[in-house]
Amino acid sequence: METNILSICYLIGSVSFILGLKMLSHPATARKGNLVSAAGMTIAILGTILFYQSDGAHLHNYGWIVIALIIGTVIGSIAARKVHMTAMPEMVSIFNGMGGLCAALISIIEFGRLTTELQALRELAIVAGMVIGSVSFTGSIVAYGKLSGKLKDHSFPGQHIFNLVVLAVIVVLGGLLISGNFAEPAVLFYTILALSIVYGILFVMPIGGADMPVVISLLNSFTGIATACGGFLYNNPVMLTGGILVGSAGAILTILMCKAMNRSIKNVLIGSFGEAKTGEGPAAGGEQGDYKEISSADAAMVMGYAHKVMIVPGFGLAVAQAQHACHDLEKLLREKGVEVSYAIHPVAGRMPGQMNVLLAEADVSYDELLELEDANEQFADTDVVLILGANDVVNLAAENDPSSPIYGMPILEVGKAKTVIVNKRSMRPGYAGIENQLFFQPNTSMIFGDAKGVLHQLVSDVKAL
Ligand code: TAP
Repeated sequence: METNILSICYLIGSVSFILGLKMLSHPATARKGNLVSAAGMTIAILGTILFYQSDGAHLHNYGWIVIALIIGTVIGSIAARKVHMTAMPEMVSIFNGMGGLCAALISIIEFGRLTTELQALRELAIVAGMVIGSVSFTGSIVAYGKLSGKLKDHSFPGQHIFNLVVLAVIVVLGGLLISGNFAEPAVLFYTILALSIVYGILFVMPIGGADMPVVISLLNSFTGIATACGGFLYNNPVMLTGGILVGSAGAILTILMCKAMNRSIKNVLIGSFGEAKTGEGPAAGGEQGDYKEISSADAAMVMGYAHKVMIVPGFGLAVAQAQHACHDLEKLLREKGVEVSYAIHPVAGRMPGQMNVLLAEADVSYDELLELEDANEQFADTDVVLILGANDVVNLAAENDPSSPIYGMPILEVGKAKTVIVNKRSMRPGYAGIENQLFFQPNTSMIFGDAKGVLHQLVSDVKAL
């Protein structure tokens, strides 16, 4: 009876993960999708605590389990409430690292419980879970350190080759362990563990800060695979489903991010593109001509009397937390009969969907958000494009300069519009660290300042029209 109830709990958990993931694919249902998956996970955890039996005995150590649940819940909810939108990649990274650590710990515990009889498949799952989980753990911690500015990029000559050698040694030793041809399996196991921990650090350390979101997505995929190994070990269908979903979703996301940046995963992992992309460095190529400035009153006039305005949000809008002010301007322009929509680049900001989430926070209608291809079709008949804290996603070098590291990346073709107004604080380059020719085009004007302040001023100037 109890086994049947547990199976039903696991079935509900698995189905809710799949439904939740499907709902996450659209902003309108994403919040509900999160809740559905969390509810499924709660049912699976409670089912395990109450009904799981091993050799006819229930779980024990309830005190420890409850303490761990309370600590995890408190830390998770405080962190989720406190984190700023711009620090989301760091949080995802640290949470992902914890997932990898759990998967590695499961393997370590299960290795201690292996019997002497031949269990090659079990050993394979244990070794794979331990290696992938450890790499994901240390890799995610390094990624967190880099994103939060606590760690710098470090590499030494020949590091990529060295990394490949370490990886090859891990694979060979893992094969030796599984084959059973080694007198001291425990020594071998802990050697592989130590090498995997080191490999996670070596693997992420040289990758440029700009490529961290891609790496985090890849590490997320690793954690999913390591969890699936745990699910196999415990014959636990919900862990297996969850692990496979995270593993495949992370892999798909990694590929999509690379595609949106026109990079290959090999280029992200061993290329030098990211190393140049600190966003703080000097602009390559120096000044490219004169730029024009526009006053807030004039910008308000141009937009207030336009037929069609397209807003391009970027990382700076998230930094300034100016999404509400942006929505106020949009509503005001609409009241004046102006058609307003938003052009969303797939890698605007620092994580996938960041602009969608940011604008959703301010109740901007999803119907007003245009994807790259649709927006590009509409720029030619747009009167004014207002760029708010975006740079690389509108950088003309991606189209015109074959020597540029972002050459080939699809961009929002804002230059086709009659007038382009760019808001940023200075002429500093964006994340890719390269200057943007768009700012020097005859139909472009700059309006300098923090996006929130500029938008507040624009709102009052449009009101005064
Ligand atoms: P960026 O190219 O980073 O440009 C953002 C601009 O915002 C900066 O030039 C900055 O100029 C300005 N800014 C910063 N704070 C501001 C504030 N408070 N008010 C007004 N402006 C402010 O951003 P983007 O166009 O969104 O492009 C995203 C970049 O990140 C791309 O290179 C992309 O490849 C990379 N990336 C994204 C992802 C994902 S998944 N989204 C993943 C990996 C890498 P000032 O300093 O002069 O103000």
